[in-house]
Amino acid sequence: MKTLLSLETSCDECSASVIAPADSPSQVRVLSNVIFSQIELHSKFGGIVPEVASRNHLEMFAPVVDEALSTAGIRFKDLSAVGVTQGPGLMGALLVGLSAAKAYSYSLNIPLIPVHHLEGHLHSLFIESQKNVPLPQDMKLPMLVCLVSGGHTNLYLLESLPPESLRLTELSKSRDDAAGEAFDKCAKILGLPYPGGIHIDSLARKGRKDAFAFPRPLPGQNLEFSFSGLKTAVQTEVKKLGFTPHVFGKINSDQLPKEEMLFDLCASVQEAIVQTLVRKIILAKDRTDAQSIAIVGGVSANSRLRELLSHVKLPVYMPDAVYCTDNAAMIGACAYFKWIRNEVPSAVEASRLNAFSS
Ligand code: KG4
Ligand code: ZN
Repeated sequence: MKTLLSLETSCDECSASVIAPADSPSQVRVLSNVIFSQIELHSKFGGIVPEVASRNHLEMFAPVVDEALSTAGIRFKDLSAVGVTQGPGLMGALLVGLSAAKAYSYSLNIPLIPVHHLEGHLHSLFIESQKNVPLPQDMKLPMLVCLVSGGHTNLYLLESLPPESLRLTELSKSRDDAAGEAFDKCAKILGLPYPGGIHIDSLARKGRKDAFAFPRPLPGQNLEFSFSGLKTAVQTEVKKLGFTPHVFGKINSDQLPKEEMLFDLCASVQEAIVQTLVRKIILAKDRTDAQSIAIVGGVSANSRLRELLSHVKLPVYMPDAVYCTDNAAMIGACAYFKWIRNEVPSAVEASRLNAFSS
């Protein structure tokens, strides 16, 4: 059996996965997908410290790879190719994964396939046996894809399926902050741990969505996004309510909104972000001949976004939560199809590959 090892170390998740062919030629089978999250390491700093991230990747990648191989029930000698995130991401963190992948490729004499992180997120749609994603032959094209992560908020029109390379047209992106960044920055203002999206998501369930009128920017026919004003609006509101959540850059835990007030703030922040996303998705759907909608990336795990999209009168595809946030399986899926298409650098080209940060 052909098996591919993939590595993802672009940010604060150290992940390795073993990928194999699936029954459908447009999907891959995940034999293992191990994710070591560094969240605890970074949370005391209120965000990711790049140097801490790279050092931890260096410590963790070998044990994570060993676990991925043993869960998949294979050994190094059984591998036929290795895929890795080349960028964008944190330079030092990427270099750990890329250097490790080069070493595996060279020592095992197998091809090395570099993957763009965003192309990886898009391939999370082509992982076998997910609850929320149909077989690719049942997917309707063209598909409007919204990639929403900590670093990107992009709308694409997708007109082909693997094993072909993805034919994509970028329709719009954020002018400033990404949706995930907005979740994280607002969460920080509210004194919640990093990364804040998941905390806002769960606290918002107990709050009133209309308690605070936070901005929904670029309200016209513009398909672009803009989220940078939201954090200022939240900061201003929190001050107006009489809280001083941060003193000299540190969280002042006695001075944070609590209970109902916090739930209402979370619900209102989430609603502002998610309503903006859904409005632009519907606008783009109406403007193109999209026959289906998909969401990928960390924010696509958001429960309110999923709920709102379930009312849209088109098939909506969303990966299982584990494949929304950063993981090596999606990188492996993308690398696998490149490998099948023979889009493989020569050994010399592979040795010269460099990481890129943006
Ligand atoms: O795709 P991802 O893991 O990393 C990037 O490529 O950026 O996305 C991380 C982002 C973070 O901003 C995080 O707060 C957000 O995804 N996120 C969520 C949820 N789970 C993760 N945002 C809203 N609701 C969630 N349930
Ligand atoms: Zn990502």
